[in-house]
Amino acid sequence: MAIGAPLGWLGANPIEFITRSTGTWTIVALVATLAITPLRRALNWPWLVRLRRTAGLITFFYAFLHFMTWLWLDRFFDWNDIVKDIAKRPFITVGFAAFVLLIPLAITSNNASIKKLGAATWQRLHSAVYFIAILASLHFIWLARRNPNEPYVYAAIFALLLGARIYWKYRKSE
Ligand code: HEM
Repeated sequence: MAIGAPLGWLGANPIEFITRSTGTWTIVALVATLAITPLRRALNWPWLVRLRRTAGLITFFYAFLHFMTWLWLDRFFDWNDIVKDIAKRPFITVGFAAFVLLIPLAITSNNASIKKLGAATWQRLHSAVYFIAILASLHFIWLARRNPNEPYVYAAIFALLLGARIYWKYRKSE
């Protein structure tokens, strides 16, 4: 994108192109992150767990690029405008909340943090990712969209991935 923008490869509105593609990559990476545990259990592939941290950090990386595109290229670091946009447009409010919640998860995605917090607290903190998935779905659903079905496809995948966890938890406690 950094090469394509000055060369005119990103169409008539390169900022919109960058915002949308970084947003799409963020949600795809979030789906991949949340799919790892159900896939590991369903396919009995324990090695998949090794990819979970990387997938989570890739999600944060794209969310950061997506957020910075909005902050810099869309709002030009105009702090009044930024606060107004977060307060007034519900899809921005929930997107911003999702991004803010991703920050502590990214910071604590290392073995030293698991040790410092204790496994149970760390796990509780990282279960915020389910709430992040709900906020990300609302963010996408509330956008004015050319293809109104696409956000519902992601929301359905998230519902399935969260549902699988609830099912397994319920079965374990039976
Ligand atoms: C976990 C966090 C987030 C996810 C998963 C996410 C995901 C997405 C997705 C999938 C799109 C639509 C892409 C498309 O058109 O195909 C999008 C668009 C957009 N997002 Fe996000 N986003 C997140 C956070 C944020 C944040 C923090 C902001 C700014 C505060 C933001 C601002 C926008 C804007 C301005 C658009 C384009 C709206 C339009 O085209 O009219 N997003 N995002």
